[in-house]
Amino acid sequence: MQERSKVPTWHHDAVIYQLHIKAFRDSNRDGFGDFRGLLEKLDYIAELGVTTIWLLPFYPSPLKDDGYDIADYCGVHPNYGTLEDFKEFLAAAHARGLRVITELVINHTSEQHPWFQRARIAPKGSPERDFYVWSDDANRYAGARIIFTDTETSNWSWDPVAQQFYWHRFFSHQPDLNYDNPAVLEAVLDVMRFWLRLGVDGLRLDAIPYLVEREGTNCENLPETHAILRTLRAAMDAEFEDRIFLGEANQWPSDVRPYFGEGDECHMAFHFPVMPRMYMAVAKGDRTPIVDIMAQTPPIPEGCQWAIFLRNHDELTLEMVTDEERDYMYAQYAKDPRMRVNVGIRRRLAPLMDNGRKEIELMHALLMSLPGSPVLYYGDELGMGDNVYLGDRNGVRTPMQWSADRNAGFSSVDSAALYFPVVVDPPYGYQTVNVEAEERTPSSLLHFVRAIVKLRRRYRAFARGTFEPLAPENRHVLAFLRRYDDEVILCVNNVAHHAQYVELDLSEFDGWRPIELWSGNGFPKIGALPYLLTLNTRDFLWFKLEPPGGARRLDAASPVGS
Ligand code: GLC
Repeated sequence: MQERSKVPTWHHDAVIYQLHIKAFRDSNRDGFGDFRGLLEKLDYIAELGVTTIWLLPFYPSPLKDDGYDIADYCGVHPNYGTLEDFKEFLAAAHARGLRVITELVINHTSEQHPWFQRARIAPKGSPERDFYVWSDDANRYAGARIIFTDTETSNWSWDPVAQQFYWHRFFSHQPDLNYDNPAVLEAVLDVMRFWLRLGVDGLRLDAIPYLVEREGTNCENLPETHAILRTLRAAMDAEFEDRIFLGEANQWPSDVRPYFGEGDECHMAFHFPVMPRMYMAVAKGDRTPIVDIMAQTPPIPEGCQWAIFLRNHDELTLEMVTDEERDYMYAQYAKDPRMRVNVGIRRRLAPLMDNGRKEIELMHALLMSLPGSPVLYYGDELGMGDNVYLGDRNGVRTPMQWSADRNAGFSSVDSAALYFPVVVDPPYGYQTVNVEAEERTPSSLLHFVRAIVKLRRRYRAFARGTFEPLAPENRHVLAFLRRYDDEVILCVNNVAHHAQYVELDLSEFDGWRPIELWSGNGFPKIGALPYLLTLNTRDFLWFKLEPPGGARRLDAASPVGS
């Protein structure tokens, strides 16, 4: 059980596990996962070594956007259980030292939300009508792009009841709230307070760039939107201790930077642009995409932290790349048009890596060593596959694969009653890719992921350190230092498919000794000359650099993973 400190610091050292209640474990045989099922599996999550669970939306909803279309902000969807179940889950997570982040979806609601139903019938110009953004003219705010390009042709839809158009940045069944109406902000503050009072540790702020609209702009990242965030943050800080905001702003680094404000908006924000560039680097066998985007990443205020990820519940978004890079990504990773959705790719990590173990491990090594708190997506720790036939982004939201039993041990209901079918085809089928099988196999991906999470957490430099890229001539190798207090970590990654040697300029550390982190083995001392390393296919090496006279072996150098 954690103590609450006034100012949160836990997010700096977090390793986050993202999951959907629906997909995790069905305890009552209705085909949907639920909180009681999640409770059964909490020890599994704790054993992964993660510190934090991020839950996708579990609120009452018509589920046309997998719960991001909320019909009641302060309840639990009956498919997933009750508010009492949620409380029990939260207490059990806290008892295991796990923090919990939930979703605060404040850009839009479902059309089923009572606020919208009330707005449609309220008189034009009334505060009730003005909970949403209405217009008689569907040409307003023409500068705003369409985000769900596969389904929507306009950000306006006609409402026959209200006899006006309403504004929506996402699906037409998700009307945007109107932050020019002060009553909306008051209502949203109350929703925030509701979940924080229950004890939730953090809130992911969904789709925050789009809160406010202004004519003549692209309606993204507006100063008025930042003002709203500062109000939410001030209320959170005034009334609660030790809680954080995690911002979802799918933008370039320079546009995300303002979401940290002067340390008075979000504590964390996803680093969207680095994500596709990890894939690009591995496809090209060249470090440049990662090094370039890190160079464009501005420093962030004290108390703030990036969140980085390989995959999540959405498409692998290609919004934050150039047109040329997007074509390259599609050609490399989504040859079949069914693998594409909106501006992105709907596949899981293992299939993206053609199930190559070395590649999957290298991607995890990047995730665990680049700056920011890593976010793991449920099932990727097993190498789960996807189902591109399910439509929208559902192919990456199939049931968790627990065992070779019926329905992958996810549920004992008839298979036909599952919310989605489990993945059955080789090589990703649940018969072989499942928790039970991987727990029994010391060389499995699951054991590797547990070990790398554990190793990362041993060294604070991974979580809090500087990022100092080295510039060896061999561009197939990405090498960087992470430095925190007197801890210096060296990470060397061969992002290419063939064996490489690399000469690193480590002259600053003349006389120091690299200690390899997995084994605790000392490597030859660094001298004034370039330091030579060889790396096999997609290898990565992590070292702690020990000053002369430092400990010969690491304190806790028992091989990780054994
Ligand atoms: C966020 C969610 C996505 C959802 C969208 C609209 O981007 O990550 O899943 O569809 O918001 O609610």
